[in-house]
Amino acid sequence: MTIIGLIQGLYIVAGIMFILSLAGLSKQTTARGGNIVGIIGMGLALLATVGYSIYQSAEFPDDRQPVWLTAVLIVAVLAIGAAVGTPIARRVEMTQMPELIAAFHSFVGLAAVLVGINSYIADHGGGAVHLVEVALGVLIGAYTFTGSVVAYLKLSAKMSSAPLVLPGRNALNIGAFVVFLALMFWLVAVGEENQTLGVVLVVAMTVIGFALGWHMVAAIGGGDMPVVVSMLNSYSGWAAAAAGFLLGNNLLLITGALVGSSGAILSYIMCRAMNRSFISVILGGFGSDGTAPAPGADGPEGEYTEITVDGAAEALATAKSVIITPGYGMAVAKAQYPVAELTQRLRARGITVRFGVHPVAGRLPGHMNVLLAEAKVPYDIVLEMDEINDDFAGTDVVLVIGANDTVNPAANDDPTSPIAGMPVLEVWNARQVIVFKRSMATGYAGVQNPLFFKENTDMLFGDAKTQVEAIVAALPVGQKV
Ligand code: TAP
Repeated sequence: MTIIGLIQGLYIVAGIMFILSLAGLSKQTTARGGNIVGIIGMGLALLATVGYSIYQSAEFPDDRQPVWLTAVLIVAVLAIGAAVGTPIARRVEMTQMPELIAAFHSFVGLAAVLVGINSYIADHGGGAVHLVEVALGVLIGAYTFTGSVVAYLKLSAKMSSAPLVLPGRNALNIGAFVVFLALMFWLVAVGEENQTLGVVLVVAMTVIGFALGWHMVAAIGGGDMPVVVSMLNSYSGWAAAAAGFLLGNNLLLITGALVGSSGAILSYIMCRAMNRSFISVILGGFGSDGTAPAPGADGPEGEYTEITVDGAAEALATAKSVIITPGYGMAVAKAQYPVAELTQRLRARGITVRFGVHPVAGRLPGHMNVLLAEAKVPYDIVLEMDEINDDFAGTDVVLVIGANDTVNPAANDDPTSPIAGMPVLEVWNARQVIVFKRSMATGYAGVQNPLFFKENTDMLFGDAKTQVEAIVAALPVGQKV
Protein backbone atom coordinates (compact mmCIF):
# COMPACT_ATOMS: atom_id res chain seq x y z
CA MET A 1 0.00 0.00 0.00
CA THR A 2 1.32 3.43 -0.87
CA ILE A 3 1.64 6.15 1.72
CA ILE A 4 -1.08 8.14 -0.05
CA GLY A 5 -3.37 5.06 -0.04
CA LEU A 6 -2.77 4.61 3.68
CA ILE A 7 -3.54 8.26 4.36
CA GLN A 8 -6.73 8.13 2.27
CA GLY A 9 -7.72 4.96 4.15
CA LEU A 10 -7.20 6.72 7.50
CA TYR A 11 -9.31 9.63 6.27
CA ILE A 12 -12.18 7.28 5.39
CA VAL A 13 -11.96 5.51 8.76
CA ALA A 14 -11.91 8.87 10.55
CA GLY A 15 -14.91 10.09 8.51
CA ILE A 16 -16.90 6.96 9.42
CA MET A 17 -15.94 7.39 13.08
CA PHE A 18 -17.25 10.96 13.04
CA ILE A 19 -20.59 9.74 11.69
CA LEU A 20 -20.74 7.00 14.36
CA SER A 21 -19.80 9.58 16.97
CA LEU A 22 -22.74 11.79 15.97
CA ALA A 23 -25.06 8.77 16.09
CA GLY A 24 -23.79 7.97 19.60
CA LEU A 25 -24.22 11.55 20.78
CA SER A 26 -27.91 11.52 19.86
CA LYS A 27 -28.83 9.48 22.97
CA GLN A 28 -27.82 10.02 26.58
CA THR A 29 -27.07 6.36 27.16
CA THR A 30 -24.62 6.19 24.23
CA ALA A 31 -23.21 9.73 24.38
CA ARG A 32 -20.04 8.81 26.28
CA GLY A 33 -19.22 6.08 23.71
CA GLY A 34 -19.97 8.55 20.90
CA ASN A 35 -17.52 11.02 22.38
CA ILE A 36 -14.76 8.41 22.65
CA VAL A 37 -15.28 7.31 19.03
CA GLY A 38 -15.09 10.97 17.96
CA ILE A 39 -11.86 11.50 19.90
CA ILE A 40 -10.25 8.43 18.29
CA GLY A 41 -11.46 9.60 14.85
CA MET A 42 -9.95 13.03 15.41
CA GLY A 43 -6.68 11.43 16.59
CA LEU A 44 -6.51 9.40 13.35
CA ALA A 45 -7.38 12.48 11.27
CA LEU A 46 -4.58 14.47 12.90
CA LEU A 47 -2.11 11.62 12.41
CA ALA A 48 -3.04 11.28 8.73
CA THR A 49 -2.88 15.03 8.10
CA VAL A 50 0.48 15.46 9.81
CA GLY A 51 1.78 12.36 8.00
CA TYR A 52 0.53 13.73 4.68
CA SER A 53 2.16 17.14 5.18
CA ILE A 54 5.51 15.60 6.08
CA TYR A 55 5.25 13.16 3.16
CA GLN A 56 4.46 16.00 0.74
CA SER A 57 7.36 17.99 2.05
CA ALA A 58 9.72 15.03 1.60
CA GLU A 59 8.39 14.11 -1.88
CA PHE A 60 8.50 17.66 -3.21
CA PRO A 61 11.45 19.22 -1.44
CA ASP A 62 11.56 22.97 -1.26
CA ASP A 63 14.89 24.75 -0.78
CA ARG A 64 13.24 27.32 1.44
CA GLN A 65 11.65 24.75 3.74
CA PRO A 66 13.41 21.44 4.37
CA VAL A 67 11.30 18.48 5.54
CA TRP A 68 12.61 18.63 9.11
CA LEU A 69 11.41 22.21 9.39
CA THR A 70 7.91 21.20 8.24
CA ALA A 71 7.85 18.48 10.90
CA VAL A 72 9.16 20.83 13.61
CA LEU A 73 6.61 23.51 12.68
CA ILE A 74 3.70 21.07 12.82
CA VAL A 75 4.79 19.58 16.15
CA ALA A 76 5.39 23.07 17.58
CA VAL A 77 1.93 24.26 16.52
CA LEU A 78 0.27 21.12 17.94
CA ALA A 79 2.19 21.54 21.21
CA ILE A 80 1.19 25.21 21.54
CA GLY A 81 -2.48 24.33 20.83
CA ALA A 82 -2.43 21.53 23.40
CA ALA A 83 -0.61 23.68 25.99
CA VAL A 84 -3.18 26.46 25.66
CA GLY A 85 -6.28 24.28 25.20
CA THR A 86 -5.79 21.66 27.92
CA PRO A 87 -5.77 24.00 30.96
CA ILE A 88 -8.69 25.98 29.53
CA ALA A 89 -10.75 22.82 29.03
CA ARG A 90 -9.86 21.61 32.54
CA ARG A 91 -10.69 24.89 34.20
CA VAL A 92 -13.93 25.73 32.43
CA GLU A 93 -17.12 25.40 34.46
CA MET A 94 -20.18 23.74 32.97
CA THR A 95 -21.90 27.16 33.11
CA GLN A 96 -19.14 28.68 30.93
CA MET A 97 -19.39 25.98 28.27
CA PRO A 98 -21.47 27.99 25.75
CA GLU A 99 -19.03 30.88 25.74
CA LEU A 100 -16.11 28.45 25.38
CA ILE A 101 -17.86 26.86 22.39
CA ALA A 102 -18.45 30.31 20.89
CA ALA A 103 -14.75 31.13 21.37
CA PHE A 104 -13.75 27.87 19.65
CA HIS A 105 -16.02 28.62 16.69
CA SER A 106 -14.22 31.91 16.23
CA PHE A 107 -10.94 30.01 15.68
CA VAL A 108 -12.54 27.87 12.96
CA GLY A 109 -13.76 31.05 11.25
CA LEU A 110 -10.35 32.72 11.46
CA ALA A 111 -8.63 29.59 10.15
CA ALA A 112 -11.00 29.54 7.15
CA VAL A 113 -10.19 33.19 6.40
CA LEU A 114 -6.43 32.52 6.52
CA VAL A 115 -6.81 29.41 4.35
CA GLY A 116 -8.85 31.43 1.83
CA ILE A 117 -6.36 34.28 1.55
CA ASN A 118 -3.43 31.87 1.38
CA SER A 119 -5.19 29.78 -1.25
CA TYR A 120 -5.72 32.83 -3.47
CA ILE A 121 -2.04 33.77 -3.22
CA ALA A 122 -0.52 30.28 -3.43
CA ASP A 123 -2.82 28.10 -5.57
CA HIS A 124 -3.07 28.82 -9.25
CA GLY A 125 -4.92 27.42 -12.24
CA GLY A 126 -8.21 26.68 -10.45
CA GLY A 127 -10.18 29.15 -12.57
CA ALA A 128 -13.51 30.72 -11.64
CA VAL A 129 -14.59 27.81 -9.41
CA HIS A 130 -11.51 28.24 -7.23
CA LEU A 131 -12.03 31.99 -6.98
CA VAL A 132 -15.69 31.57 -5.96
CA GLU A 133 -14.54 29.06 -3.33
CA VAL A 134 -12.03 31.59 -2.02
CA ALA A 135 -14.70 34.32 -1.89
CA LEU A 136 -17.28 32.16 -0.09
CA GLY A 137 -14.61 30.72 2.22
CA VAL A 138 -13.43 34.11 3.45
CA LEU A 139 -17.00 35.46 3.76
CA ILE A 140 -18.30 32.54 5.84
CA GLY A 141 -15.05 32.36 7.83
CA ALA A 142 -15.00 36.08 8.60
CA TYR A 143 -18.71 36.07 9.50
CA THR A 144 -18.17 33.10 11.82
CA PHE A 145 -15.15 34.78 13.42
CA THR A 146 -16.71 38.09 14.46
CA GLY A 147 -20.15 36.55 15.05
CA SER A 148 -18.57 34.07 17.48
CA VAL A 149 -16.56 36.80 19.19
CA VAL A 150 -19.75 38.80 19.78
CA ALA A 151 -21.57 35.66 21.00
CA TYR A 152 -18.65 35.00 23.38
CA LEU A 153 -18.74 38.58 24.69
CA LYS A 154 -22.53 38.48 25.17
CA LEU A 155 -22.60 35.07 26.84
CA SER A 156 -19.77 35.96 29.21
CA ALA A 157 -21.55 39.24 30.06
CA LYS A 158 -18.60 41.27 28.74
CA MET A 159 -21.05 42.95 26.38
CA SER A 160 -24.71 43.83 26.94
CA SER A 161 -27.07 41.05 25.87
CA ALA A 162 -29.55 43.69 24.63
CA PRO A 163 -29.94 43.67 20.85
CA LEU A 164 -28.10 46.34 18.87
CA VAL A 165 -30.71 47.99 16.68
CA LEU A 166 -29.18 50.18 13.98
CA PRO A 167 -31.60 52.14 11.77
CA GLY A 168 -32.26 50.26 8.52
CA ARG A 169 -30.30 47.24 9.70
CA ASN A 170 -31.84 44.85 7.16
CA ALA A 171 -30.97 47.24 4.33
CA LEU A 172 -27.41 47.45 5.69
CA ASN A 173 -27.08 43.66 5.67
CA ILE A 174 -28.54 43.26 2.19
CA GLY A 175 -26.36 46.13 0.92
CA ALA A 176 -23.23 44.51 2.36
CA PHE A 177 -24.14 41.22 0.72
CA VAL A 178 -24.71 42.88 -2.65
CA VAL A 179 -21.29 44.58 -2.40
CA PHE A 180 -19.79 41.18 -1.57
CA LEU A 181 -21.36 39.65 -4.70
CA ALA A 182 -20.02 42.53 -6.83
CA LEU A 183 -16.52 42.03 -5.39
CA MET A 184 -16.74 38.29 -6.03
CA PHE A 185 -17.62 38.83 -9.70
CA TRP A 186 -14.83 41.39 -9.94
CA LEU A 187 -12.38 38.85 -8.47
CA VAL A 188 -13.49 36.23 -11.02
CA ALA A 189 -13.01 38.80 -13.80
CA VAL A 190 -9.54 39.77 -12.51
CA GLY A 191 -8.59 36.13 -12.05
CA GLU A 192 -4.94 35.57 -11.22
CA GLU A 193 -3.61 38.19 -13.61
CA ASN A 194 -3.42 41.07 -11.19
CA GLN A 195 -2.52 39.47 -7.86
CA THR A 196 -2.27 42.76 -5.98
CA LEU A 197 -5.78 43.81 -6.96
CA GLY A 198 -6.99 40.26 -6.27
CA VAL A 199 -5.59 40.32 -2.72
CA VAL A 200 -7.21 43.71 -2.12
CA LEU A 201 -10.57 42.28 -3.28
CA VAL A 202 -10.20 39.18 -1.07
CA VAL A 203 -9.32 41.36 1.94
CA ALA A 204 -12.29 43.65 1.17
CA MET A 205 -14.62 40.61 1.13
CA THR A 206 -13.11 39.50 4.44
CA VAL A 207 -13.84 42.92 5.95
CA ILE A 208 -17.47 42.67 4.74
CA GLY A 209 -17.71 39.23 6.39
CA PHE A 210 -16.28 40.66 9.64
CA ALA A 211 -18.78 43.53 9.61
CA LEU A 212 -21.77 41.29 8.75
CA GLY A 213 -20.89 38.77 11.48
CA TRP A 214 -20.49 41.47 14.10
CA HIS A 215 -23.63 43.34 13.13
CA MET A 216 -25.96 40.38 12.67
CA VAL A 217 -25.06 38.69 15.96
CA ALA A 218 -24.97 41.98 17.90
CA ALA A 219 -28.55 42.55 16.70
CA ILE A 220 -29.75 39.39 18.44
CA GLY A 221 -31.37 39.69 21.86
CA GLY A 222 -30.51 37.67 24.97
CA GLY A 223 -33.35 35.16 24.85
CA ASP A 224 -32.37 33.99 21.38
CA MET A 225 -28.67 33.46 22.09
CA PRO A 226 -28.87 29.65 22.23
CA VAL A 227 -29.93 29.50 18.60
CA VAL A 228 -27.06 31.81 17.72
CA VAL A 229 -24.49 29.51 19.30
CA SER A 230 -25.95 26.59 17.39
CA MET A 231 -26.11 28.59 14.13
CA LEU A 232 -22.48 29.65 14.55
CA ASN A 233 -21.64 26.02 15.14
CA SER A 234 -23.24 25.30 11.79
CA TYR A 235 -21.42 28.22 10.10
CA SER A 236 -18.10 27.06 11.53
CA GLY A 237 -18.81 23.68 9.89
CA TRP A 238 -19.46 25.31 6.52
CA ALA A 239 -16.32 27.44 6.96
CA ALA A 240 -14.33 24.24 7.58
CA ALA A 241 -15.95 22.62 4.53
CA ALA A 242 -14.92 25.64 2.43
CA ALA A 243 -11.37 25.27 3.76
CA GLY A 244 -11.57 21.56 2.83
CA PHE A 245 -12.43 22.52 -0.75
CA LEU A 246 -9.56 24.99 -0.93
CA LEU A 247 -7.01 22.61 0.56
CA GLY A 248 -8.30 19.65 -1.46
CA ASN A 249 -8.75 17.83 1.87
CA ASN A 250 -11.71 15.44 1.69
CA LEU A 251 -11.79 14.73 5.40
CA LEU A 252 -12.07 18.41 6.25
CA LEU A 253 -14.84 18.62 3.70
CA ILE A 254 -16.74 15.68 5.22
CA THR A 255 -16.21 16.90 8.79
CA GLY A 256 -17.23 20.44 7.90
CA ALA A 257 -20.40 19.18 6.19
CA LEU A 258 -21.24 17.01 9.24
CA VAL A 259 -20.78 19.90 11.65
CA GLY A 260 -22.58 22.31 9.31
CA SER A 261 -25.63 20.13 8.77
CA SER A 262 -25.93 18.81 12.34
CA GLY A 263 -25.63 22.40 13.62
CA ALA A 264 -28.34 23.47 11.18
CA ILE A 265 -30.65 20.63 12.31
CA LEU A 266 -30.08 21.50 15.97
CA SER A 267 -30.74 25.17 15.23
CA TYR A 268 -34.00 24.19 13.54
CA ILE A 269 -35.08 22.11 16.54
CA MET A 270 -34.19 24.97 18.88
CA CYS A 271 -36.00 27.50 16.71
CA ARG A 272 -39.13 25.41 17.04
CA ALA A 273 -38.60 25.20 20.83
CA MET A 274 -38.35 28.99 21.01
CA ASN A 275 -41.02 29.67 18.40
CA ARG A 276 -38.61 31.50 16.10
CA SER A 277 -38.56 31.18 12.36
CA PHE A 278 -35.52 29.44 10.92
CA ILE A 279 -35.25 31.90 8.04
CA SER A 280 -35.22 34.92 10.35
CA VAL A 281 -32.42 33.24 12.30
CA ILE A 282 -30.32 32.68 9.18
CA LEU A 283 -30.81 36.28 8.17
CA GLY A 284 -29.87 37.46 11.67
CA GLY A 285 -31.36 40.45 13.41
CA PHE A 286 -34.00 38.36 15.12
CA GLY A 287 -34.97 38.27 18.79
CA SER A 288 -36.28 41.78 18.94
CA ASP A 289 -38.16 44.13 16.75
CA GLY A 290 -36.63 46.96 18.71
CA THR A 291 -39.74 47.45 20.79
CA ALA A 292 -38.76 45.11 23.62
CA PRO A 293 -38.91 46.83 26.98
CA ALA A 294 -35.80 47.39 29.05
CA PRO A 295 -34.81 44.28 31.01
CA GLY A 296 -36.95 43.83 34.07
CA ALA A 297 -39.06 46.87 33.28
CA ASP A 298 -42.23 45.12 32.18
CA GLY A 299 -44.61 42.53 33.51
CA PRO A 300 -46.83 42.30 36.50
CA GLU A 301 -45.73 43.12 39.98
CA GLY A 302 -47.82 41.76 42.80
CA GLU A 303 -48.09 39.81 45.99
CA TYR A 304 -46.11 36.64 46.32
CA THR A 305 -46.03 34.08 49.10
CA GLU A 306 -42.93 32.53 50.64
CA ILE A 307 -42.47 29.02 51.98
CA THR A 308 -39.91 27.71 54.48
CA VAL A 309 -37.62 24.71 54.06
CA ASP A 310 -39.77 22.75 56.53
CA GLY A 311 -42.92 23.75 54.68
CA ALA A 312 -41.42 22.55 51.38
CA ALA A 313 -40.25 19.29 52.96
CA GLU A 314 -43.73 18.69 54.33
CA ALA A 315 -45.39 19.43 50.98
CA LEU A 316 -43.05 16.95 49.32
CA ALA A 317 -43.48 14.26 51.96
CA THR A 318 -47.26 14.36 51.61
CA ALA A 319 -47.22 14.43 47.79
CA LYS A 320 -47.87 11.44 45.56
CA SER A 321 -46.31 12.91 42.45
CA VAL A 322 -43.56 15.48 42.03
CA ILE A 323 -42.07 17.07 38.92
CA ILE A 324 -38.78 18.95 39.07
CA THR A 325 -38.10 21.56 36.37
CA PRO A 326 -34.46 22.61 36.51
CA GLY A 327 -32.96 25.69 34.88
CA TYR A 328 -29.81 27.73 34.66
CA GLY A 329 -29.85 28.49 38.42
CA MET A 330 -29.43 24.78 39.21
CA ALA A 331 -26.25 24.80 37.11
CA VAL A 332 -24.92 27.98 38.76
CA ALA A 333 -25.62 26.64 42.25
CA LYS A 334 -24.28 23.14 41.33
CA ALA A 335 -27.47 21.89 42.96
CA GLN A 336 -27.74 18.78 40.76
CA TYR A 337 -26.12 16.55 43.43
CA PRO A 338 -28.53 17.40 46.30
CA VAL A 339 -31.37 17.35 43.72
CA ALA A 340 -30.36 13.79 42.80
CA GLU A 341 -30.28 12.87 46.48
CA LEU A 342 -33.68 14.46 47.09
CA THR A 343 -35.04 12.47 44.16
CA GLN A 344 -33.68 9.26 45.62
CA ARG A 345 -35.19 10.00 49.03
CA LEU A 346 -38.59 10.85 47.62
CA ARG A 347 -38.65 7.77 45.39
CA ALA A 348 -37.67 5.63 48.40
CA ARG A 349 -40.88 6.91 50.01
CA GLY A 350 -42.89 5.72 47.03
CA ILE A 351 -43.40 9.20 45.58
CA THR A 352 -43.32 9.44 41.79
CA VAL A 353 -40.58 11.89 40.82
CA ARG A 354 -39.92 13.03 37.27
CA PHE A 355 -37.97 15.82 35.64
CA GLY A 356 -39.31 18.16 32.96
CA VAL A 357 -36.53 19.57 30.81
CA HIS A 358 -37.18 22.51 28.50
CA PRO A 359 -35.16 22.34 25.25
CA VAL A 360 -33.42 25.63 26.05
CA ALA A 361 -33.22 25.38 29.85
CA GLY A 362 -29.81 26.56 30.96
CA ARG A 363 -27.36 28.09 28.58
CA LEU A 364 -26.69 25.43 25.96
CA PRO A 365 -28.53 22.53 24.36
CA GLY A 366 -28.70 19.52 26.65
CA HIS A 367 -27.26 21.52 29.58
CA MET A 368 -29.70 20.11 32.16
CA ASN A 369 -29.52 16.56 30.82
CA VAL A 370 -25.73 16.56 31.18
CA LEU A 371 -25.87 17.88 34.75
CA LEU A 372 -28.55 15.41 35.82
CA ALA A 373 -26.68 12.52 34.19
CA GLU A 374 -23.51 13.66 35.97
CA ALA A 375 -25.38 13.45 39.29
CA LYS A 376 -26.64 9.97 38.33
CA VAL A 377 -30.33 10.79 38.01
CA PRO A 378 -31.83 7.83 36.07
CA TYR A 379 -32.38 8.72 32.39
CA ASP A 380 -35.87 7.26 32.29
CA ILE A 381 -37.33 9.84 34.71
CA VAL A 382 -35.86 12.80 32.80
CA LEU A 383 -38.49 13.82 30.24
CA GLU A 384 -38.62 16.41 27.51
CA MET A 385 -41.09 19.29 27.66
CA ASP A 386 -43.45 17.75 25.08
CA GLU A 387 -43.51 14.45 26.94
CA ILE A 388 -44.45 15.95 30.31
CA ASN A 389 -46.38 19.15 29.62
CA ASP A 390 -49.82 17.50 29.84
CA ASP A 391 -48.96 15.83 33.16
CA PHE A 392 -48.59 18.96 35.30
CA ALA A 393 -52.36 19.10 35.83
CA GLY A 394 -52.32 15.79 37.71
CA THR A 395 -49.20 16.59 39.73
CA ASP A 396 -49.13 17.48 43.43
CA VAL A 397 -45.91 19.48 43.70
CA VAL A 398 -43.62 21.05 41.10
CA LEU A 399 -40.16 22.19 42.15
CA VAL A 400 -38.89 24.94 39.85
CA ILE A 401 -35.18 24.91 40.60
CA GLY A 402 -33.35 27.95 39.21
CA ALA A 403 -35.58 28.15 36.12
CA ASN A 404 -37.39 31.27 35.07
CA ASP A 405 -38.01 32.05 31.38
CA THR A 406 -38.73 28.41 30.60
CA VAL A 407 -41.68 28.35 33.07
CA ASN A 408 -43.03 31.82 32.28
CA PRO A 409 -46.82 31.79 31.55
CA ALA A 410 -46.49 35.19 29.83
CA ALA A 411 -45.12 33.29 26.83
CA ASN A 412 -48.63 31.80 26.46
CA ASP A 413 -50.82 34.61 27.76
CA ASP A 414 -49.19 37.89 26.82
CA PRO A 415 -48.76 38.55 23.09
CA THR A 416 -46.70 41.68 23.85
CA SER A 417 -44.08 39.79 25.89
CA PRO A 418 -40.66 39.46 24.23
CA ILE A 419 -40.93 35.70 24.77
CA ALA A 420 -44.52 35.47 23.47
CA GLY A 421 -45.12 32.23 21.60
CA MET A 422 -42.13 30.42 23.09
CA PRO A 423 -43.41 27.02 24.28
CA VAL A 424 -42.95 26.75 28.07
CA LEU A 425 -43.32 24.15 30.80
CA GLU A 426 -46.86 24.70 32.09
CA VAL A 427 -45.95 24.18 35.75
CA TRP A 428 -48.76 26.43 37.04
CA ASN A 429 -51.29 23.68 36.24
CA ALA A 430 -49.96 21.61 39.16
CA ARG A 431 -51.58 21.75 42.61
CA GLN A 432 -48.59 23.51 44.19
CA VAL A 433 -45.50 25.11 42.69
CA ILE A 434 -42.37 25.87 44.73
CA VAL A 435 -39.87 28.20 43.03
CA PHE A 436 -36.24 28.08 44.19
CA LYS A 437 -34.33 31.29 43.47
CA ARG A 438 -32.40 33.93 45.35
CA SER A 439 -34.52 36.99 44.66
CA MET A 440 -37.38 38.30 42.54
CA ALA A 441 -34.88 39.11 39.75
CA THR A 442 -35.74 38.29 36.15
CA GLY A 443 -34.18 35.47 34.12
CA TYR A 444 -32.02 35.57 31.01
CA ALA A 445 -34.59 37.21 28.73
CA GLY A 446 -34.99 40.02 31.29
CA VAL A 447 -38.77 39.69 31.59
CA GLN A 448 -40.90 39.49 34.74
CA ASN A 449 -42.54 36.16 35.52
CA PRO A 450 -46.26 36.16 36.49
CA LEU A 451 -45.83 32.58 37.77
CA PHE A 452 -44.28 33.96 40.97
CA PHE A 453 -47.49 35.84 41.79
CA LYS A 454 -49.92 32.98 41.20
CA GLU A 455 -51.95 31.68 44.15
CA ASN A 456 -50.59 28.15 43.99
CA THR A 457 -46.95 29.34 43.78
CA ASP A 458 -44.66 29.70 46.80
CA MET A 459 -41.18 31.20 46.65
CA LEU A 460 -38.30 29.50 48.46
CA PHE A 461 -35.55 32.12 48.44
CA GLY A 462 -31.87 31.27 48.77
CA ASP A 463 -29.13 29.41 46.95
CA ALA A 464 -30.67 26.37 45.27
CA LYS A 465 -27.97 23.99 46.53
CA THR A 466 -28.21 25.14 50.15
CA GLN A 467 -32.01 24.99 50.10
CA VAL A 468 -32.26 21.56 48.49
CA GLU A 469 -29.67 20.22 50.93
CA ALA A 470 -31.74 21.65 53.79
CA ILE A 471 -34.86 19.92 52.45
CA VAL A 472 -32.96 16.63 52.12
CA ALA A 473 -31.88 17.02 55.76
CA ALA A 474 -35.48 17.64 56.77
CA LEU A 475 -36.58 14.45 54.98
CA PRO A 476 -34.82 11.62 56.83
CA VAL A 477 -34.70 8.29 55.00
CA GLY A 478 -37.88 6.30 55.44
CA GLN A 479 -39.32 8.69 58.04
CA LYS A 480 -42.35 10.84 57.51
CA VAL A 481 -41.77 14.48 58.44
P1 TAP B 1 -33.19 31.76 33.38
O1 TAP B 1 -34.43 32.26 32.76
O2 TAP B 1 -31.90 32.42 33.06
O3 TAP B 1 -33.41 31.81 34.96
C1 TAP B 1 -32.47 31.29 35.84
C2 TAP B 1 -32.92 31.65 37.25
O4 TAP B 1 -32.02 31.01 38.13
C3 TAP B 1 -32.84 33.12 37.52
O5 TAP B 1 -34.14 33.66 37.64
C4 TAP B 1 -32.06 33.24 38.84
O6 TAP B 1 -32.84 33.99 39.78
C5 TAP B 1 -31.95 31.79 39.30
N1 TAP B 1 -30.67 31.52 39.93
C6 TAP B 1 -29.44 31.91 39.54
N2 TAP B 1 -28.51 31.47 40.40
C7 TAP B 1 -29.16 30.78 41.36
C8 TAP B 1 -28.75 30.09 42.52
N3 TAP B 1 -27.46 30.00 42.89
N4 TAP B 1 -29.71 29.49 43.28
C9 TAP B 1 -31.01 29.58 42.93
N5 TAP B 1 -31.45 30.21 41.84
C10 TAP B 1 -30.54 30.81 41.06
O7 TAP B 1 -32.99 30.20 33.14
P2 TAP B 1 -33.88 29.10 32.37
O8 TAP B 1 -35.27 29.03 32.89
O9 TAP B 1 -33.04 27.87 32.41
O10 TAP B 1 -34.04 29.67 30.93
C11 TAP B 1 -32.98 29.65 30.04
C12 TAP B 1 -32.86 31.02 29.39
O11 TAP B 1 -31.57 31.12 28.86
C13 TAP B 1 -33.83 31.21 28.27
O12 TAP B 1 -34.16 32.58 28.13
C14 TAP B 1 -33.03 30.75 27.08
O13 TAP B 1 -33.49 31.28 25.87
C15 TAP B 1 -31.68 31.31 27.46
N6 TAP B 1 -30.57 30.61 26.87
C16 TAP B 1 -30.63 29.26 26.70
C17 TAP B 1 -29.61 28.61 26.07
C18 TAP B 1 -29.75 27.14 25.84
S1 TAP B 1 -29.32 26.49 24.47
N7 TAP B 1 -30.25 26.37 26.74
C19 TAP B 1 -28.45 29.31 25.69
C20 TAP B 1 -28.38 30.71 25.93
C21 TAP B 1 -29.47 31.33 26.52
P3 TAP B 1 -32.11 34.75 41.00
O14 TAP B 1 -31.08 35.62 40.40
O15 TAP B 1 -33.22 35.47 41.68
O16 TAP B 1 -31.52 33.69 41.87
